[in-house]
Amino acid sequence: MTHNDQKLKPPPFKIKVVEPIKKTTRKERKKLLEEAGYNFFNIAAENIYIDLLTDSGTSAMSDYQWAGLMLGDESYAQCKNFFHLENVIQDITGYKYVVPTHQGRSAENLICHALNLDQSKVTVSNQFFDTTRANIKISGARAYDFVIAEAYKPSLLHDFKGNLDTNALEDFIQNKGDVSLIVVTVTNNAGGGQPVSLANIIEVSKIAKKYKIPFFLDAARFAENAYFIKLREKKYQNLSPKEIAQKMFSYADGCMMSAKKDGLVNIGGFIALNDEQIYRRIKERMTVIEGFPTYGGLAGRDLEAIARGLTEVLEEDYLEYRHQQLEYLGKGLEKAGIPFIKPVGGHSINLDVKRFLPHIPQSEFPAWALTVALYEYHGIRAAELGSVAFSRQQEDGKWIFPELEQVRLAIPRRVYSQEHLDYVIDSVIDLYEHKEEITGMKIIYDPGILRHFNAKLCPLD
Ligand code: F0G
Repeated sequence: MTHNDQKLKPPPFKIKVVEPIKKTTRKERKKLLEEAGYNFFNIAAENIYIDLLTDSGTSAMSDYQWAGLMLGDESYAQCKNFFHLENVIQDITGYKYVVPTHQGRSAENLICHALNLDQSKVTVSNQFFDTTRANIKISGARAYDFVIAEAYKPSLLHDFKGNLDTNALEDFIQNKGDVSLIVVTVTNNAGGGQPVSLANIIEVSKIAKKYKIPFFLDAARFAENAYFIKLREKKYQNLSPKEIAQKMFSYADGCMMSAKKDGLVNIGGFIALNDEQIYRRIKERMTVIEGFPTYGGLAGRDLEAIARGLTEVLEEDYLEYRHQQLEYLGKGLEKAGIPFIKPVGGHSINLDVKRFLPHIPQSEFPAWALTVALYEYHGIRAAELGSVAFSRQQEDGKWIFPELEQVRLAIPRRVYSQEHLDYVIDSVIDLYEHKEEITGMKIIYDPGILRHFNAKLCPLD
């Protein structure tokens, strides 16, 4: 039985290596949850049946990538895999300078340093990812999001919900002045993997040029974004994903990328850019904290795997398969009336928990309660993007809760089959049908900063 009328094309690969997964009993999972303070970051991964915590670093590499690992040149400086990677990145992005980093957040840190961000500086984005925002904050600078208002309307359909509101951006620059960095995150992870149109990237680029502001893409999911452009922006429908990606990069001054997503690898990242002065500052700093600039905290073999992954991720067959998996999951949930952020994103389905569990107020952490139920009843791990992760306390002690209360079901690349997705759909439907039985939670240990990693909770009776 399939979950919707959509007929799935077979994946453009067959399986050569398998990794067994095991299903524990509900009784075992209840005990594991109690022992872990109801926090998934404390549960051993081997006790997870289907792991949808993240699409980051969880991809299955191809035989071509694994074979590349054997060709790792582990020389300290100027290894041959760096030149391969440099070549591939220059070809896709058109940027002159390439600097590998061990993952995305170190690339962000290096950019913040190279741009001399400090208390006097302001940065803007469609929506910064958490680590980018945190890196900007520790530099002392401020970070503002200008994603279009439609992004905050969960049921509203819009082709490019990740777009940056360019009118608001220009107003802001004129009134606040002195913006030191513009970042467009493709796709917008914080908003559910929603894409940004090429028209919007071009508009942002015009503004950045007009006011001479460095403009970078956070390219973690650039290939998924390129595929959305191909499907939804008519003007570009006859271009290949690679040609569209080349266009996307051509309008920015550089990019930073966590290769753990669309690099199809388990670790790695990079910066690519044209400005020689910024490049020099990045190189100086990284030699101290990240490694020599031709390896950036990675082994030669890792560089080879990224070079090969970046080539494979732009293959149209792959992107069609990837898109189809997400659509399949979305249609299966939609048919059962499950509320989630529409339209389906590039790498995740984000459940709209305010509508899923309307009986639990945000002060009782409904999204967290839903992730706990998904695990307790069905062995699935998902990520809470709700009031545990994003609430903040005002000076007067009052708590401010996030506008959207979400549970993210992130789909690792080339990892799960249609049967796994069917299991996920059945599980979510089962919880939706018994939602009244799900109760709120309370925090019994609050570590303050980034509390979702270390907090301990328990169910309210
Ligand atoms: N930018 C975006 C858009 C991301 O989604 C992430 C990571 C990063 C930067 C940071 O990259 O993890 O390699 O340091 N996102 C992961 C996630 C953690 O689960 O969405 P990193």
